[in-house]
Amino acid sequence: MGDDAGVSNAAALPDRPVVGILHPGAMGSALGSALKPRASAVVWAAAGRSDVTSKRAEIADLVGVPDVAELARRSDVVISICPPHAALDVAGQVADAVRGRDQAPLYVDANAVSPATVEKIATLFDQDRVVDGAVIGPAAWEAGRTVLWLSGTAAPAVASLFDGSPFAAKVLDGELGAASALKACFALHTKALPTIWAVMTAAARGYGVLDDLRAEVSRMGGDLDASLAALAGKSGDRAWRWAGEMDEAADTIAAQGLPDGMSRAAAEVYRRLADGSLELG
Ligand SMILES: NC(=O)c1ccc[n+]([C@@H]2O[C@H](COP(=O)([O-])OP(=O)(O)OC[C@H]3O[C@@H](n4cnc5c(N)ncnc54)[C@H](OP(=O)(O)O)[C@@H]3O)[C@@H](O)[C@H]2O)c1
Repeated sequence: MGDDAGVSNAAALPDRPVVGILHPGAMGSALGSALKPRASAVVWAAAGRSDVTSKRAEIADLVGVPDVAELARRSDVVISICPPHAALDVAGQVADAVRGRDQAPLYVDANAVSPATVEKIATLFDQDRVVDGAVIGPAAWEAGRTVLWLSGTAAPAVASLFDGSPFAAKVLDGELGAASALKACFALHTKALPTIWAVMTAAARGYGVLDDLRAEVSRMGGDLDASLAALAGKSGDRAWRWAGEMDEAADTIAAQGLPDGMSRAAAEVYRRLADGSLELG
């Protein structure tokens, strides 16, 4: 843990906390870098991570520690930012490492998961020490494009760490899970809706009417090829990760008693794009 001489708020965060990032992928390295001015150190855990992550951490000038257990023991704040399907497992690793300690780190789950997954994560820690986070926008290296939404009792303490950084941190009034709910609803628009282009194209090709479909879409003012190109450009090599995000979004929608089929179908589309059994264009 960092020097706690300057404990400044109800969340009991030192003025210059040690922040652990699990893990410095595209978004994690940007978050870690953004926190360097406020943190006494930003650490990452090398065990099991690829060369790509290692390189990102090096470029962002983060401090390497051997593994998640060591990171959890040293950190005042742990930020989980990993593929959504791994969020619960990562939280479990941190909980195991700090079990029995007087004061566990603040645990921020910043992944694209459902409120139900956040609830499960909260059962692993003291609920007041868990913050739900969700990033909307690209990995931020400059201000103005990306918001980190936060909810939970300790959300204001986490938000203050980002003052003046490229991430605009905003605290939601709702309970723990509100940030993830917002992200899941938003993801229906950005990630579920565009999969319709992939499905209608594949179906039309199967029926031998693709050129006719293209012409009809064009006649109505749309552009099938441009829409497919936009989907390909955005999903790219992230399709496997977006499948997990769409599963979590579906759980979020279903928990409100609403039809979740579009998000489940989007998850399946991204799984097939990832394994090559569905092609765009
Ligand atoms: N990138 C964006 O524009 C964006 C925008 C909004 C929200 N987000 C959210 O940010 C999170 C991470 O996205 P990202 O773009 O940073 O992904 P990324 O670049 O693929 O990075 C993911 C990180 O997690 C690690 N990882 C991979 N599999 C893991 C597993 N099974 N268990 C634990 N860690 C694992 C990776 O390590 P290895 O290198 O070893 O695989 C890497 O360090 C996601 O929840 C996503 O929804 C991203």
